[in-house]
Amino acid sequence: MISAKGWKKDVSVTTKTLKREEIQAFQKDIYRYYECHRRDLPWRKTRDPYHILVSEIMLQQTQVERVIEKYEKFITVFPDPSSLAGASLKDVLGVWQGLGYNRRARSLMLTAGIIVTMYDGKMPVSVGELSGLPGIGKTTAGEIAAFAFNLPVVFIETNIRRVFIHHFFPEESAVKDREIMPLVEATLDREHPRDWYYALMDYGSMLKKVVKNPNRQSAHYKKQSSFANSDRQIRGAILRILLRESALTRSELQRKVNVEPDRAERILAGMTGEGLVREDNGEYRVA
Ligand code: ADE
Repeated sequence: MISAKGWKKDVSVTTKTLKREEIQAFQKDIYRYYECHRRDLPWRKTRDPYHILVSEIMLQQTQVERVIEKYEKFITVFPDPSSLAGASLKDVLGVWQGLGYNRRARSLMLTAGIIVTMYDGKMPVSVGELSGLPGIGKTTAGEIAAFAFNLPVVFIETNIRRVFIHHFFPEESAVKDREIMPLVEATLDREHPRDWYYALMDYGSMLKKVVKNPNRQSAHYKKQSSFANSDRQIRGAILRILLRESALTRSELQRKVNVEPDRAERILAGMTGEGLVREDNGEYRVA
């Protein structure tokens, strides 16, 4: 549809407006659940923005239970940005092992380096600055701003998306984040953003266990592909071997992970391009 100004209107996006009573009823539901069932997670006991950054990067693609095991160890070994920035990738990946998606560990190191060199060792506060750092998108920046600095920012992540779809779009499909965002903004408890977002996430995590995943109604829904024999699994296996054995040729690696040469070559090229491994004189090692 073309409006009077000549802009193309996206007719597939519905805008819902909430009445005051609806907002209050929603907040009451969420907080009532939170009062009795809040999760006592280790990264909620700190206000250290760097520790919160570490936890949020880990939580991007890894389940809470697995992050709990790794988070404490990571911040014990790398307690501040300078210790992480000064470490070797090999040491960092050694602690990261088990979380998967190892690219995140490298981005976290790069971000720590920028915090040390450009921000005098202190994390920036604004979503604009945070989301310019390696590995930090709008969502992670919003989480850090809310949890570390208690700022009333607006963001969506998977648990939050689930809550809003379940409550406000029960019959719809292909719901866009653009449709959810105004509702996140309208219902935000601006006095207590940190608690509000914890409460929303806990409610969303509970919903996952009790209803068929509402996120299937999201336009952005992607089912996680299976891990067995995926590139992700092979990448993990390659890194594990290189962390143990230091340097190996491509054919040695290929034999150890038991994949076809073309596939090993493609995967190693990807990992080299991402700065996770490097090749010298036909031997691969952790970069
Ligand atoms: N608490 C703080 N951040 C969280 C997250 N990303 N997921 C679950 N719980 C959290």
